[in-house]
Amino acid sequence: MSVAILIGSQWGDEGKGKIVDILSSKFQIVARYQGGANAGHTIEIEDKKFVLHLVPSGILRDDVICVIGNGVVLEPEALLKEINFIEEQGIKTEGRLFISNNAHIIMPYHKAIDLIEEKKQGNQKIGTTGKGIGPCYNDKYSRKGIRAFDMLNEETLIKKIKKNISEKAELIKEENLNTETIISNYKNYAQRLAPYITDTTTFLNNFIQEGKSVLMEGAQGTLLDIDHGTYPYVTSSNPTSGGACTGTGIPPTKISSVIGIVKAYTTRVGNGCFPTELKGDTADKLRELGGEFGATTGRPRRVGWFDAFLMKYSVMVNGIDKAAITKLDVLSEFDEIKVCIGYKHNGEKLNNFPTDNEILNNIEPIYKTFKGWKTDISSTKSFDDLPIQAKEYLSYIEKECGFKISIVSVGPKRSETIEL
Ligand code: GDP
Ligand code: IMO
Ligand code: MG
Repeated sequence: MSVAILIGSQWGDEGKGKIVDILSSKFQIVARYQGGANAGHTIEIEDKKFVLHLVPSGILRDDVICVIGNGVVLEPEALLKEINFIEEQGIKTEGRLFISNNAHIIMPYHKAIDLIEEKKQGNQKIGTTGKGIGPCYNDKYSRKGIRAFDMLNEETLIKKIKKNISEKAELIKEENLNTETIISNYKNYAQRLAPYITDTTTFLNNFIQEGKSVLMEGAQGTLLDIDHGTYPYVTSSNPTSGGACTGTGIPPTKISSVIGIVKAYTTRVGNGCFPTELKGDTADKLRELGGEFGATTGRPRRVGWFDAFLMKYSVMVNGIDKAAITKLDVLSEFDEIKVCIGYKHNGEKLNNFPTDNEILNNIEPIYKTFKGWKTDISSTKSFDDLPIQAKEYLSYIEKECGFKISIVSVGPKRSETIEL
């Protein structure tokens, strides 16, 4: 039985939700390991659409257990809303959803600080989702955070809320946050979440010991990683595969595979470098065809050609062995499709992918052009039945990036999937 990590290989929104839903038919547990409600993972089954922010994307399969790991920053209100929505669809969560007692809790002052910090930066802002992610991780690493643990002890919870608010008073003074309202709301959330909170580290490791399989679901993407991404235009956690071990307590020796979710082109939400970014008509066409508008914030996503040079870096950092290529169908209407195969900086070809924004903002991408297939491929069921040009595009990416393609996604629905 296996323990696999599934990661976003680019700047997020690669289609992780859809692929986790597909793969979870083969796993007994799906666990989120980082990020929070900044994530928006979409799953479409027939004409029903689910956008999950905190609940793992395995929840739609009755026999799959879902874990929110210790590395996640959890917003109680958002989670309870999501649980209600899922239950309204007739899907049970109690006894199937577990929250790590070590997960940190997002507080209203985290969201307030997120917005205050962004405002201060003006046009240098990161373009965060405004969900309080950075400030919550900030408290975690300053050892001031409130954990799910604390939600189980009312006295501790109240004491910590008061201490945090008084320490941040100067910063949040214009936000009109009422301490008593926050305490009363969080006491209520605590009661409702208590049945889900447990020691998920022991729970997961016991499962693995029994030979059960676990799929770890990353949020965001490699280039948004706080250590390996395009800092400072990143999120505040480790979406890369290393984060899956620290974010769940599953040791590296148990990992059998790293699955990269690879969009057939590139997108980015928020600010920061984007070497293959397109502008004008081609960009508008790609954005419209791909429905590239944020699942969490609704913001239009920036779009560009596939970047194989970036992907090789992602393969290296994550140890990706298998890849699911998503949204191939979106390219079906283009006469020509480009792939970036290298970067030039000051006229010199670079040997390695640089994570420095300054360099990345001033590089010249080197492109290879492919002929488009100009045929609807959304009902294609096997690799062999894809048009020759699409097969050539995929084979090139597979060889150049150094992974094995195991899934090709040709539409948002469960059924629009080719498994190799
Ligand atoms: P995630 O954050 O990585 O889970 O990705 P999002 O859900 O934010 O964005 C992916 C979007 O593309 C969603 O609207 C999906 O329904 C959609 N999607 C996923 N796979 C495919 C595909 O193969 N083709 C098309 N056309 N849409 C897809
Ligand atoms: P999923 O899991 C795409 C981006 C934000 C911003 C930066 C920091 O759906 O792929 P944050 O709120 O995390 O402090 O914002 O990260 N970002 C995402 N972009 N997909 C996501 O999640 C993202 N989560 C955060 O747009 O640039
Ligand atoms: Mg998303």
